[in-house]
Amino acid sequence: MLTPRQLFLRHQAQTSDFPLLLEIERAEGVYMYGPDGQRYLDLISGIGVSNVGHRHPRVLAAIQQQLDKYLHLMVYGELVQAPPAELAHALHQTLPPHLDGVFFTNSGTEAVEGALKLAKRHTGRTELISCYNAYHGSTQGALSVTGSEDFKRSYRPLLPDVRHIGFNNVSDLQHITERTAAVIVETVQGEAGVRVAENGYLQALRQRCLYTGALLILDEIQCGFGRTGTFWAFEQFGIYPDILLTAKGMGGGMPIGAFIAPQRIMAGFKSNPILGHLTTFGGHPVSCAAALATLRTIQEENLLAGVAEKAARFREQLRHPAIRAVRGCGLLMAVEFDSFAVLKPIIDRALSHEGVLTDWFLFCDNSLRLAPPLTISNSEIDESCTALLRAIDYVVG
Ligand SMILES: Cc1ncc(COP(=O)(O)O)c(C=O)c1O
Repeated sequence: MLTPRQLFLRHQAQTSDFPLLLEIERAEGVYMYGPDGQRYLDLISGIGVSNVGHRHPRVLAAIQQQLDKYLHLMVYGELVQAPPAELAHALHQTLPPHLDGVFFTNSGTEAVEGALKLAKRHTGRTELISCYNAYHGSTQGALSVTGSEDFKRSYRPLLPDVRHIGFNNVSDLQHITERTAAVIVETVQGEAGVRVAENGYLQALRQRCLYTGALLILDEIQCGFGRTGTFWAFEQFGIYPDILLTAKGMGGGMPIGAFIAPQRIMAGFKSNPILGHLTTFGGHPVSCAAALATLRTIQEENLLAGVAEKAARFREQLRHPAIRAVRGCGLLMAVEFDSFAVLKPIIDRALSHEGVLTDWFLFCDNSLRLAPPLTISNSEIDESCTALLRAIDYVVG
């Protein structure tokens, strides 16, 4: 009998030659457990997913209740099913009133695909603008607007008429014109290494989109659902999107995403041709039930209220001569070191000797990723920081 590890290596397609290879048997709250009882403190939440912690009891109960009723019944958009309908309503209640149409997907990248199609359909324009070092997903449309040529080169040709601008670069906004269908931007850039918009940048972007008639798509797939301390990150910048994207943390550990836009814009999918955007599993009832429980947990357990204080507690403790900077917005944080050569052994040591799971970023390899569950307690934060500082000391002396 081959072990799961042998089967993983033999038959599961790999995405690198150096997978983490941790074997996990169960998870609860901020912890994951290996087969021999090893305990790992999860400081990255499955990359921004477990905002309410692993296996939150409310999420489990909602899933269980839905399992007892029905699983998949029919492709998206035909039958009236309570879980997606109630979730769409609950999402709308967190949003500015114009964002009253929700289209459910299975993932973040699918939310991006739907939004790009919708923007082209609504404006009749073709140009798409996104930022350098943005990550929007791995399917061909989302990859096209991802801002890294290294990621794209081997897969060209991708979508035509895509242009990139610098995040936080106000003068680049002039490239947004009457030709532009949409500008897609992460409200807080994630894989760029947590880059927060500087004063006035997002407001100027919003104004430029209004002036030119380009739709503003805010990708909150990583920074939404409470991660930054407000339910949506855009709330902190006094702006609003024409199309909003969510996924990752939305499902409390279940796969789901959505693009959200005014119903009058969504109506484009109903004609010329009809059925302009389809999905078999988007809005799966079990995922929707889990997402509604996640949303209610964030609201009713008042998780947003603790985010700023918890982030400050990390920042106060993460002081060390080797740490160059700590960037962040709420509990989406990046701890910067001189180089990957310094950071990588720290990440490895933290995992192997401290049982603390962290990571770096796709487009920023000198910074340590910190995105713990929003439910992390003060003592778990202290435990994390002590462990990380010990790993840093071990590596840099
Ligand atoms: C900002 C952002 N957009 C889109 C995606 C793609 O989401 P998914 O991996 O669910 O396709 C990600 C994933 O990391 C992301 O961080």
